[in-house]
Amino acid sequence: MTTLPQPPDILSPEFAADPYPAYRILREHYPLFHDPGTDSFLISRYEDVARAFRDPVFTSDNYEWQLEPAHGGRTLPQMSGREHAVRRALVAPAFRGRELREKFLPVIERNARERIDTFRDAAETDLVARFATRFPVNVIVDMLGLDRADHDRFHGWYASVVGFLSNLAQDPEIADAGLRAGRELAAYLLPVIQERRAAPGDDLLSTLCTAEVEGTRMNDQDITSFVSLLLAAGGETTDKALAALFRNLLAHPDQLAAVRADRSLIPAAFAETLRYTPPVQMIMRQPAAEVTLGGGTVPAGATVTCLIGSANRDERHYARPDSFDVLRGDLTPATAFSAAADHVAFALGRHFCVGALLAKTEVEVAVNQLLDAFPAMDFAEGTVPADAGVFTRGPERLRVRLVPGNDGARAHGA
Ligand code: HEM
Repeated sequence: MTTLPQPPDILSPEFAADPYPAYRILREHYPLFHDPGTDSFLISRYEDVARAFRDPVFTSDNYEWQLEPAHGGRTLPQMSGREHAVRRALVAPAFRGRELREKFLPVIERNARERIDTFRDAAETDLVARFATRFPVNVIVDMLGLDRADHDRFHGWYASVVGFLSNLAQDPEIADAGLRAGRELAAYLLPVIQERRAAPGDDLLSTLCTAEVEGTRMNDQDITSFVSLLLAAGGETTDKALAALFRNLLAHPDQLAAVRADRSLIPAAFAETLRYTPPVQMIMRQPAAEVTLGGGTVPAGATVTCLIGSANRDERHYARPDSFDVLRGDLTPATAFSAAADHVAFALGRHFCVGALLAKTEVEVAVNQLLDAFPAMDFAEGTVPADAGVFTRGPERLRVRLVPGNDGARAHGA
């Protein structure tokens, strides 16, 4: 007789150390499980998570308490219907196609180069502290046309706002720090918004200040909330993805060598990193009506926690789900950054990450420049650095030994 394993506690230290065995137990034995710690229904199978992202009965009203207080107002992820479509259309062009290629690619390349310059001649560095946590936030700050001299302040605000969003255990100090950071950021932005309204430039903040939504302009609070969202949504995620990508490749030297030799494999390496170690491990939803899924029923208004980290390792969907394999046949790099993706790291459906192609461009530029600057790289501490975090997850540090090359200047896009 087999005994049923205990349902995992997603707020426990064991889960934080390595959630993947717990995800397997959930998928196998508790595909729909009411978690008392978070008072939410956990769903863990690919099919159920994909459905929750696509089926409009699963609203994102949960962001009223999860996002709104930190950003100081309603933002894109919590909107629906026409309001959502119009607001999304406002920023989407900056994150894809010509605008991304022609206007923002140079910004991305310059920021990658500047970060690498801070350790180009070093024998060793921490790629998380020196590169990953800085580069994506700096890119957003520059896209918005904000003061580059304030990169450090933005980094501090963004870290506190992200702390608020990831505060599953509801720690009051973390919550206060997030709310304070949101207020400080808004106070910083308000005079800049007045300037841009009076004299718009070619930057993303000017677009937000001047664009008309449903015949009316976004008010100051709409804009400060939106900027706060962009810093958190675009910074934290890409930060963790970049660090995890390098850690995964360094842990698989044959795959690193393949990517180094054939840079067209970078999107596949990024897509596989998003599947294998997704930066956003879970996203919540709130069904508007009673729904049946995972073999059970969720009442209207309850919170559903969609376990992205589990869905992406579902053995019903992927062969050898626990292996990192850049060349796997069941993940399609060509669609991995669109709403037709066959992983759920960017969600799916109407809230599919609007910054996915920006993230892909940032990762391509960063990986190319880092590989060009350093012909050899290895873990400095001899062990593979682990991931940390429950809501968002990635390596906390990534100390690497570097062999600087003399071809750094020919870096792609340099
Ligand atoms: C690897 C990097 C990234 C990952 C893993 C990621 C993940 C996600 C996920 C899971 C969602 C869905 C949230 C939900 O449905 O509740 C989302 C939405 C969003 N992301 Fe990203 N993201 C990344 C990069 C970016 C970047 C670079 C930006 C832009 C600065 C960005 C901006 C947004 C915005 C504005 C939304 C809300 C879209 C909507 O509600 O329509 N993200 N992202």
